[in-house]
Amino acid sequence: MKKLNTYYIRTYGCQMNELDSEILSTQLENRDIKKVEKEDIADLIILNTCSIRDAAEQKVLGKLYEYKKSKDKIIGICGCMAMSKKEELLKKFKHLDFILGTNNLLDLNNVLDDLIIKKNIQRKKIDTTYEKGLDNFFAKRVNKIKASISIIRGCNNYCSYCIVPQTRGKEVSRDYKSIIKETKHLANLGYKEITLLGQNVNSYGLDKPEWKIHFSDLLYELDKIEGIDRIRFMTSHPKDITKELMYAIRDLKKVCEFVHFPVQSGSDEILKKMRRTYTSEYYLTQVNLLKSIVPNATIGTDIIVGFPNETDEDFNQTYKLFDKVSFDTAFIFAYSPRQKTYAARLEDNVPNEIKQIRLKKLLSLFHETLKKKYQNLIGSKQEVLVERHNKDGLFLKGRTRTFEKVIFKGDPKLIGSLQIINIEDFSHQTLKGHISLT
Ligand code: SAH
Ligand code: SF4
Ligand code: F3S
Repeated sequence: MKKLNTYYIRTYGCQMNELDSEILSTQLENRDIKKVEKEDIADLIILNTCSIRDAAEQKVLGKLYEYKKSKDKIIGICGCMAMSKKEELLKKFKHLDFILGTNNLLDLNNVLDDLIIKKNIQRKKIDTTYEKGLDNFFAKRVNKIKASISIIRGCNNYCSYCIVPQTRGKEVSRDYKSIIKETKHLANLGYKEITLLGQNVNSYGLDKPEWKIHFSDLLYELDKIEGIDRIRFMTSHPKDITKELMYAIRDLKKVCEFVHFPVQSGSDEILKKMRRTYTSEYYLTQVNLLKSIVPNATIGTDIIVGFPNETDEDFNQTYKLFDKVSFDTAFIFAYSPRQKTYAARLEDNVPNEIKQIRLKKLLSLFHETLKKKYQNLIGSKQEVLVERHNKDGLFLKGRTRTFEKVIFKGDPKLIGSLQIINIEDFSHQTLKGHISLT
C-alpha cells in the first residue's frame, strides 16, 4: 500500500459525532495526512456514521455501494453504525477496509498501520467499554470561536425507541480535571464559547459518586475560567434536570439561558411506552419552574410523531403541550423503528402519511410561535457573540445568549467579540439588526 497523503471525512448525526470526527481528523493531521473536500482525490475515506433513524443509515449504505468502484482507497466506517451493524457491514461490503466503534476513536492509527502493511484483511475495533485516553486527547477544532467538549459519554436511559445505548454504551463521566484543563486550553487558544456535550448532561457525575461533583458544580468551576465568554450545554433529560442547575443558569454569568430539554411527546400513554419516566404534567412543572427561576430562559425540544399506536388524541396532547410551552427550537422526527430496541417489538402501525401530516402540523405551529417571538424581539437589544460572515459575505452572523441567530453589518475584525445589537427585523428564523452605539 502506498503512503496515505490525503483523507476525506464525512460526519452524520449529532454534535458528539462532529466532535468525534475532530478527534479522528486530529490524529490524521498529526501524521501529516491532509484533509481534502472531495472523495475522489482522497487516499482514505472515513464515514463517521449515525444510526438514530433508518434514513441516516440508508445514506451511508448508499455511499458504500458507490465506493465499490474505488479499489485503491482505504475506506472506513466509524461511529454509531460500526456499533449497531458490526461485522454485518464487513460481510456485506468486501471493499470496506475497517470499522471503528465509538469507544475506539484512538485506535485509528493502529488500524491504519495494519492496513498499510496488509490491505486485504478487513479490520474491526468495536469495544463496548469507554476509552479512557479520550479524557486527555484534545482535538483540533474546525471552528475558531466555539468548541464542543464532551463531558459524559453513553446513555443509561433505554428510552424504548432509541438505539443510542447500543451504539454508545453505558454512561461514563469524563474526569472533571480534564474537562477544566481542556477548557483552559481552548481559552488560551482564543475560544470564546464552549458547549458541554452529553446524551444527558444532567447525569454528569452520577456514575462517580466518589467525585462528589454534579453537573451544576461543574458549571460553577468552568464559569471561573478566564477568556471564555459563554457556556452552553446539551442535552438535558427532563427527568433529572435539577433546581441547582436552574440556579446555576440564573447566577453564572457565562452560562447561557437556553435549555435543550426534549419532551418527545405530550401524551402520558405514549411517554410511558417510550419509557421517558415522566408525565406531561411533570414536564410542564419543570418548564414553569425554570421560567420562574430564569424568566428569560428559552427552551428547545425534540419530538417524535407516529410512535406505535399513537392515536389522533395522543397527537392532540402533543400539539397542546407544544402550543403551551411555545418552544424556541424544535426538532420534529417521524418515528423510525430501530433494531434491538424495545419499541421495535411493537408494530410500526402509524402510516407514514399520518406521520408526515402530524410532523407538518407541529412545524407550522412552531413557525407561527417563532414569528410571534421574533416580532416581540424587535426593538430589543441583544448580546451577540460574533461568529462569522453569513453565506453571502455581506453580514456578520452570531447568536444571542438564548440561541437566536442574528445578522448585522460590521467589520470582520469583530468576529470573536461580544456585541450589543439593536434588533430591527427578522426573516427565516434569523433576526436582523445594527450594532448598538450606546
Ligand atoms: N439524548 C437526547 C437525544 C439524542 S437522539 C435526549 O434524550 O434528549 C436525538 C433525538 O432523536 C431524540 O431526542 C429523539 O427525538 C430522536 N430519536 C431517537 N430515536 C428515534 C427513533 N427511533 N425514531 C425517530 N426519532 C428518534
Ligand atoms: Fe436515547 Fe433516551 Fe438516551 Fe436520549 S436519553 S440518548 S433518547 S435512550
Ligand atoms: Fe446518531 Fe449516534 Fe449521535 S446514533 S445522533 S451519531 S449518538
